[in-house]
Order: sequence, then structure tokens, then C-alpha cells
Amino acid sequence: MIVAPSLLASNFLHLEAEARMLNESEADWFHLDVMDGRFVNNISFGLPIIQQLRKTTQKLFDVHLMIEEPEKYTEAFARAGADILTVHYEACRHLHRNIQQIRDLGMIPGVAINPHTPVQLLQDILPDIGLVLVMSVNPGFGGQSFIPHTYQKVKTLRQRIDQFGLDVKIEIDGGVDLSNAKQLSEAGAHVLVAGSAVFHAPDPRQVISSLKHCDA
Ligand code: DX5
Ligand code: ZN
Repeated sequence: MIVAPSLLASNFLHLEAEARMLNESEADWFHLDVMDGRFVNNISFGLPIIQQLRKTTQKLFDVHLMIEEPEKYTEAFARAGADILTVHYEACRHLHRNIQQIRDLGMIPGVAINPHTPVQLLQDILPDIGLVLVMSVNPGFGGQSFIPHTYQKVKTLRQRIDQFGLDVKIEIDGGVDLSNAKQLSEAGAHVLVAGSAVFHAPDPRQVISSLKHCDA
């Protein structure tokens, strides 16, 4: 299992120490949630923070854009150090073009879907992307409860990916913790994002390790 702790739940006064903790842990990726106050009702952090964090780690930067018109910022996020750039299906009128743009800039393109968006809508874009981010809460805030319908979506998606031999990872984001990690793994998830479950725990590194080996 790939584990991608979401820094949205970290202590922003101690970002360097939080990054160090992740570097010393079994975390695979840094999950970075960018919000614009338009696509979602919250504003998180943006390019300058990502640029600074980039200096603290070699781990892969998994940037989740919860913003309108993400195509305007693709190049800026590439320069800031994003390795994977995920845009929302619901925010892109010309999704295919946006995906090409992300690839042309040397990043891996991802597409995120809100809880109400059927996975079937991704059918024609799946061969062009490297990651599907399935939202298991409504985007905008950490600390919400996991929506159980997600399991079924993951199963359906995984079947399609395997059937066509596609190189696409399934990432689950929202309300992920030790109580649902194993079932998500069994449903076919490849990547778990966890914010509160990691950063609000007494021993974040232990939680990261348990999430990583939940399928063991
Ligand atoms: C929510 C973000 C998530 C969030 C997850 O809109 O996309 O990445 O940080 O936080 P938890 O794990 O607390 O639900
Ligand atoms: Zn996220």
C-alpha cells in the first residue's frame, strides 16, 4: 500500500518538523491539498508553501488541486515541484486537454472525483492518466467521516483498470484511518491519503506504518 499523509492536518507552525517526521516514516508521498475558496468552501495553502516544502524532502509530491480553472496554474505547480498533479473532474470543461498539459510538463496526471460523481464517467480518460483520486468525503475539509459507498466505487474502478491492463493507481482521500484501510485495500485501492488519522495521532509514524502494512 502506498501511504500519502495529507499535510492539511499538520501543524503549520512546525512544517519543517512535520516534514522531517514524514521523511523518517514509511510514508511514500506528501499529499498536498490546494483549495481556492471557489471550487470548495475553504482556502488552504498554495505555491509558496509547496516550494518551501520541496526543499525538505525527496519524497514524491502528490498535489490535489481543489480549484476552478486548474489549467491556469499547471505550469506554476510543475515549477513548485509537483510530481503528480490531480485536477477535479467537476472543475474541468476540457479535461483531456488539461491532462495532456500536465503530461507535457513532465508530471503524472490524476483525476479526482467527488462522492456524487460516478466512476463510469472516467471510462474515456482512464488510458491517459496515472491516478484516480476517489473522494471518500466531500472535499474542502479534513476530519470528516468516511462515506461507505466508496468501497463499491473502488471495486468497479479496479475491475475496469485490470480488465484493460491500465497503469492507473486508485487513491482514496477523506476519513481514511485504521478502521477502513484493510477493506479499502481489499476493494482494490493502491494509495491511502490520511490527514487527521496521522497528524492527530500520538504516534504518527506508527499509524503510517500500520496503514502501509494494512494488507499484510
Ligand atoms: C479534503 C482533502 C483531504 C483531507 C483529508 O478535502 O482532500 O486530503 O486532508 O483529511 P482527513 O484524512 O482528515 O479526512
Ligand atoms: Zn486531498
